[in-house]
Amino acid sequence: MAAPPQILFLLLLLFHAPPILANSHQNFDVRRHLSTVTRYHAAKDISDNSYVPSNIPDQCEAIHLNLVGRHGTRAPTKKKMKELDALGTRLEALLENVKEQKSVVFPAWLRGWKSPWTGKHKGGELISEGESELYELGIRVREKFPQLFHEDYHPDIYPIKATQVSRASASAVAFGMGLLSHRGNLGPGRHRAFAVISESRASDVMLRFHDCCQNYKAFRRSQEPSVDKLKEPTLDEITKELVKRWGLNFTRRDVSSLWFLCKQEASLLNKTDQACALFSPSEVGLLEWADDLEVFILKGYGNSLNYRMGVPLLEDVIQSMEQAIKAKEDGLVPGSYEIARLRFAHAETLLPFSCLIGLFLDGHDFDKILREEPLQLPPKPPQKRIWRGSTVAPFAGNNMLVLYSCPANNTSKYFVQVLHNERPTRMAGCGDSDMCPFEVFKERIAAPHLKHNYNDLCSMESAEEMTATNKLWQIFSWIFPANAKKPQKEEL
Ligand SMILES: *[C@@H]1O[C@H](CO)[C@@H](O)[C@H](O)[C@H]1NC(C)=O
Ligand SMILES: *[C@@H]1O[C@H](CO)[C@@H](O)[C@H](O)[C@H]1NC(C)=O
Ligand SMILES: *[C@@H]1O[C@H](CO)[C@@H](O)[C@H](O)[C@H]1NC(C)=O
Ligand SMILES: *[C@@H]1O[C@H](CO)[C@@H](O)[C@H](O)[C@H]1NC(C)=O
Repeated sequence: MAAPPQILFLLLLLFHAPPILANSHQNFDVRRHLSTVTRYHAAKDISDNSYVPSNIPDQCEAIHLNLVGRHGTRAPTKKKMKELDALGTRLEALLENVKEQKSVVFPAWLRGWKSPWTGKHKGGELISEGESELYELGIRVREKFPQLFHEDYHPDIYPIKATQVSRASASAVAFGMGLLSHRGNLGPGRHRAFAVISESRASDVMLRFHDCCQNYKAFRRSQEPSVDKLKEPTLDEITKELVKRWGLNFTRRDVSSLWFLCKQEASLLNKTDQACALFSPSEVGLLEWADDLEVFILKGYGNSLNYRMGVPLLEDVIQSMEQAIKAKEDGLVPGSYEIARLRFAHAETLLPFSCLIGLFLDGHDFDKILREEPLQLPPKPPQKRIWRGSTVAPFAGNNMLVLYSCPANNTSKYFVQVLHNERPTRMAGCGDSDMCPFEVFKERIAAPHLKHNYNDLCSMESAEEMTATNKLWQIFSWIFPANAKKPQKEEL
């Protein structure tokens, strides 16, 4: 016999389990599950601790360093701030609907909630937490490689490069301030001035290849709808749970905005007891996975163009190593050759670069990449996956490629070690070692990519044509402002 509705209602109330706060679960810290919005210190804690790095023999000496880093923690962009303002209005409406129903037990903060960024006019900049990430990284890099950083600073010996986007160049500055602190005469911190070099946005194929590659932009536009579709079932599943749990009629879009808010609160405000606490740990895990899928498809191993368009950067890295080897062989005097090339850019730079050197792959997948076969998507939790945005490209995430000279080694005189977020990282293309003979690195890991040509991959227009297109676009936007919305997900 079916129970009368009143009893059902009571039962529902009784079994309305106390909300599980995502952050109150033992061993579950939402701050480590924010995909590419994860902060560096949280990401460093979650790197693969089980991996035992190679012992570097005493006879080996670091002779050159390549760094490719992402900017540090940054403020939400203007567009995202607007989304949060809209969420405020939306929450107000949802709460208005349930005014009468006393039984509904949503968290108190939802009432009258306003985005903490309301009234801010500009977004996307490096925030003070991000400055610290890079400043401290600069200090640690100098301390880790005293043999590389004892030379007097010169822009040709330690070139520091950044993109023209302010959060990247500010990151380069913060890093340089750390690296060169107490090396100059400026102020009590004995800072010294240093140069940060940027290419123009329109032609920065080294660090902003994603923005210069027409084919990639077209690919991305074509894929975005299907990526959204792919994420829908996950969002719908969680929306259903949230509606049940909190008695508010959230839509898929609300839930997507609430997840965005959770990521911002947790990473920028260190606040995990509001938006994040609406979700259970397993829901956070699913949302994180959905974000990681998007990153995989649009910026990672999901499509070979995503990383192949990074060939100019990989070429630059190999070329800098060859120069360093030549300087060593020629016995050049210290102070006459480059020792480190330090680059600060975006997730769109770091992710493809990690793919180009075959990180976060097992050997089987590496062979697939060589055969130009697509990889499987990262599997849905609770299945484990290697590909995690929080590890691959957190704020201030970085790869350092250290070139070692090992004159007494039988196998090779030069080795490349890869440090990802400062930890030695296995290279599937080099027998899962983090120390790769330079020849193997060059021939087995880099060469299969370097046979591709950037202009062919991207069918890039010449610089003049590009400027002409931009001019046309400006005129078009001026005549038809309403139509002139450049569709595109934002840059990370
Ligand atoms: C939520 O929506 C359903 C149907 O769309 C409606 O029946 C219900 O009353 C709504 N609940 C609240 C709390 O607004
Ligand atoms: C963030 O909050 C946690 C408590 O949840 C605290 O232990 C930690 O020190 C805070 N971090 C910062 C940078 O404020
Ligand atoms: C040096 O050579 C030995 C023997 O050939 C090898 O086992 C070792 O891994 C090599 N690598 C380094 C970095 O010294
Ligand atoms: C290097 O090669 C020599 C001669 O082939 C051999 O005697 C020696 O043991 C090797 N050293 C290492 C470290 O493998």
